[in-house]
Amino acid sequence: MSRIVVLRLGHRIIRDQRLTTHVLLTARAYGADEGLVAGERDDELLNGVRRVVENWGGEFKVNYVEDWRKVLRDWRERGGKIIHLTMYGINLPDIIDEVRSLWRSGRDLLIVVGGKKVPGELYSIADYNIAVTNQPHSEVAALATFLDWLQEGEELRREFKGGKLKIIPQRRGKRVVRID
Ligand SMILES: C[S@@+](CC[C@H](N)C(=O)[O-])C[C@H]1O[C@@H](n2cnc3c(N)ncnc32)[C@H](O)[C@@H]1O
Repeated sequence: MSRIVVLRLGHRIIRDQRLTTHVLLTARAYGADEGLVAGERDDELLNGVRRVVENWGGEFKVNYVEDWRKVLRDWRERGGKIIHLTMYGINLPDIIDEVRSLWRSGRDLLIVVGGKKVPGELYSIADYNIAVTNQPHSEVAALATFLDWLQEGEELRREFKGGKLKIIPQRRGKRVVRID
């Protein structure tokens, strides 16, 4: 199966901690393999996400990247495709079939989401600039919707193996079991 990696640009400690955490947790829950964070180095944030993986399972990795341009260059050299989520791009329903065929045929996807300000060069570096509606909203919402359309909902049934905790779904109330 080809890989899905999410790159979050422009992280700022304190101001973005909650939102970047949500980007990473959303990436994990919706089936991405790895999350990369560029901007200010924030080990506390990365360790927080690692603890979620320890408790709830799966193989999701998180890492800080110092030079995101190099990450993009290397990605392309290895044959992967770069998807930039932006309100200015082609609207998702008009492009997702093309991207999905590439992904299903074995191309790895690097999905880039911005922070407060996105470097202009990203629009030309990306293979695809994709909008989830051409309206402004949030990197978390854009990422979730993109990943869901890409995988056609299959990710919602994914099992996260190796965790310490598992939810037994209930119509009412909460049931969590500890796995030894
Ligand atoms: C709060 S927005 C800031 C965007 C910023 N004003 C800019 O320079 O583009 C943060 C990120 O959310 C994502 N985003 C927001 N609205 C989007 C949309 N309609 N479609 C796709 N991505 C979107 C983009 O990745 C964007 O970089």
